[in-house]
Amino acid sequence: MRQIKIFDLKFNQKEINFFSKNSKVIFKEGFFSNHSYVKKFENEFKKLNKSKFVLSTSSGTSALEIILRSFDIKNKNVLVNSNTFIATGHAITNAGGKIVPVELEKNYFMMDPKDLEKKISKNTGAVIIVHIGGIITPNIFKIKKICEKFKVPLIEDAAQAHGSSYKNIFAGNFGDAGAISFFTTKVMTTGEGGMITTNDKKNFNKMFSLRQFGFMKNKLLHDKVSGNYKLSEFSALLGIIELKRLKSRIGKRNLIAKIYQKNLKDTKYKLLKSNKPFICNHYKQIIISKISREKIEKILNKNKISLTGGVYYVPLHRQPIYKKQLKKYKLPLTDYFCNNHFCPPCYPELKKQDIARVCNVLQKI
Ligand SMILES: Cc1ncc(COP(=O)(O)O)c(C=O)c1O
Repeated sequence: MRQIKIFDLKFNQKEINFFSKNSKVIFKEGFFSNHSYVKKFENEFKKLNKSKFVLSTSSGTSALEIILRSFDIKNKNVLVNSNTFIATGHAITNAGGKIVPVELEKNYFMMDPKDLEKKISKNTGAVIIVHIGGIITPNIFKIKKICEKFKVPLIEDAAQAHGSSYKNIFAGNFGDAGAISFFTTKVMTTGEGGMITTNDKKNFNKMFSLRQFGFMKNKLLHDKVSGNYKLSEFSALLGIIELKRLKSRIGKRNLIAKIYQKNLKDTKYKLLKSNKPFICNHYKQIIISKISREKIEKILNKNKISLTGGVYYVPLHRQPIYKKQLKKYKLPLTDYFCNNHFCPPCYPELKKQDIARVCNVLQKI
């Protein structure tokens, strides 16, 4: 019985040859950072994602931090769903903001617009909606409206949502800016890397400056404290290869999710779905279950099946670094979701018979 791994990223020989051939061009050009391949990658991503402006970065975390700094959120509250990767919380903290966790709602287990409206105030610097597992919440326009009413920027943490869309609007284009991650395990990768998306030219210029040391038009002068968040040429080359196959790989992920949904229909498991016209990239297939996750994991492991990471088991308000600071927030639905979900393997390298095997084991638990 073969091991079904947590993930199993593969490139074919044609893709590897493309990388080798173009690496030689990079060596010939002799400039390894933020040069012609970075520009090409940015242009191709921009076209595919239908964003007006994009800016590649060293990671999804730095993309978020740059966006937050561009909106001057220092000493202000940043409202965010608590079931997110620690990076979202750290980006807020590093940009000088205060995390305010927003509760989930019970239909989709995504940010609750009602709780958002309760918590938004004069002291709110930004709202971050995290497209967890690649799902864009059907409440996205309600959330956008609330932000507009309070004149608060809406930031999308689209780290997991490459290619997810609603009526042809891609993740990263709903709010004032979006941050995408190209970490190795994501739907597409550059090894490490990220991308900022925005339709706002003025703020784009500010973020452009923040990406590299806060320089002014005259590059010898700097008017902001910032860092170095640029992408390397080799990373961009990998990104160009990934963009070519993004659509077909998302298609495969959707096919896998469909098999899970068909095989586990009317069972003790509730599978989160993204109904048309919302299209999910299925970075994850999230399953809610009352059976203890430890038990599920143990049985799957015995059958040589690894779970992929959750989204997330430990929310921001329960993390050792933030739990004291966020003690006053009660988030029972977030806690329920974090404790009672799991994500079976869902990536394009899996075969149909692998998914059938996972479903078979899950049905017997
Ligand atoms: C929801 C979320 N936000 C932020 C990040 C940070 O991205 P990166 O690892 O590229 O810094 C990730 C992924 O790692 C993520 O899943």
